[in-house]
Amino acid sequence: MINVGILGYGTVGSGVFDILRGNEKLIAERAGEEISVKHVLDLRDFPGNPVESVLTHDFKDIETDGEVQIVVETMGGLHPAYEFVKACLEQGKSVCTSNKALVADFGPELIQIAKDRNASFLFEASVGGGIPIIRPLQSSLSPDDILEISGILNGTTNYILTEMREKGADFDSVLKDAQALGYAEADPTADVEGHDACRKIAILTSLAYGKNVDFHEIYTEGITKITDRDIAYADKMGGKVKICGSSKKVGERVSAMVAPVIIYPDNPLYSVDGVFNAILVKGNMVGDVMFYGQGAGKLATASAVVSDVMEAGKNIGTGVPVQWTAERLSLVPLKESKSRFFVRMAGTKDENEGKVQDAFGEVEAVDAGFSDEYAFVTGEMSEAAYEEAVQAVGAVINKIRIS
Ligand code: HSE
Repeated sequence: MINVGILGYGTVGSGVFDILRGNEKLIAERAGEEISVKHVLDLRDFPGNPVESVLTHDFKDIETDGEVQIVVETMGGLHPAYEFVKACLEQGKSVCTSNKALVADFGPELIQIAKDRNASFLFEASVGGGIPIIRPLQSSLSPDDILEISGILNGTTNYILTEMREKGADFDSVLKDAQALGYAEADPTADVEGHDACRKIAILTSLAYGKNVDFHEIYTEGITKITDRDIAYADKMGGKVKICGSSKKVGERVSAMVAPVIIYPDNPLYSVDGVFNAILVKGNMVGDVMFYGQGAGKLATASAVVSDVMEAGKNIGTGVPVQWTAERLSLVPLKESKSRFFVRMAGTKDENEGKVQDAFGEVEAVDAGFSDEYAFVTGEMSEAAYEEAVQAVGAVINKIRIS
């Protein structure tokens, strides 16, 4: 029998509890051993809930219980999650977490502690919720040199952009509706400013190359400046605006970014709408592989955590190896990153066309029926060259990179 302690009985933690109980027999058959929840830590009481019989308010009950081999961390936040996880790993317990902030900030250190104790530190649910991506990246795709990862990594922003397009609505009203429906947090900053997706692409990129990406170094742009006009232009161009996290191998370095992009129907991410997430991985041998599913939600995310618990359970005493060291992965500076840009400028076509051509060279004009502005798509250029051209033409209303 494997005994589990759960830190945090919130949405995901209670989902883990429900799955381990609800699918107990099937899990025991597949894991080769019964997996039982011995303690659940939470500050709150849950009168009448089945968790009551295993509920504790004291972390020490889990940390010092020699019979607990696996700890699930579903508290969220960095502190005390970091201190609790570290303490459990140092006791030789394996830890499975859904906490992307913890993994993005402390991944290499916690992986090393687990390795030193022949234990596991696993985090399948930290990216893409219920979508299997961490383990496939570490195992099924391990023969490949990963050339590129691009993903719709945040359900809240994908929902907002989908609604803006389908309803012709503006960002603020869609955000308000999304909050009322529970698809967006009361404080949506981490989602709409791209911080959540940034941590996720940092985790995926670190795993793909085995070296650490500091997520602070990844250029991150959210969707708060995207307007209904941007969406109308993208529509006119036959594309959609999506916020993507991406990383691409450029020689020995990696170019990584989170930003809104216009994507076209030939990109498999084009049809990923609503709250769904998808991650497209390009291997040098396997080619394109896409992982699609629910990037959030109680049971989807908890299912990914339980898959880690089962994996850790099969590897008690040895640990599951994770290739991600503290060595820094070198990122291409933003100014060297290249793309085509969709650009909107105030003023008519006649007022802008000449100076735009002088600054950007040949561009393709885009007419979506707004006579008070001039919009165009540039050829491929570096961010530095783009900024230089913008200096020459004056302020732009908005720009969106083209995938
Ligand atoms: N806020 C996240 C999202 C939840 O909207 O995708 C999963 O990390």
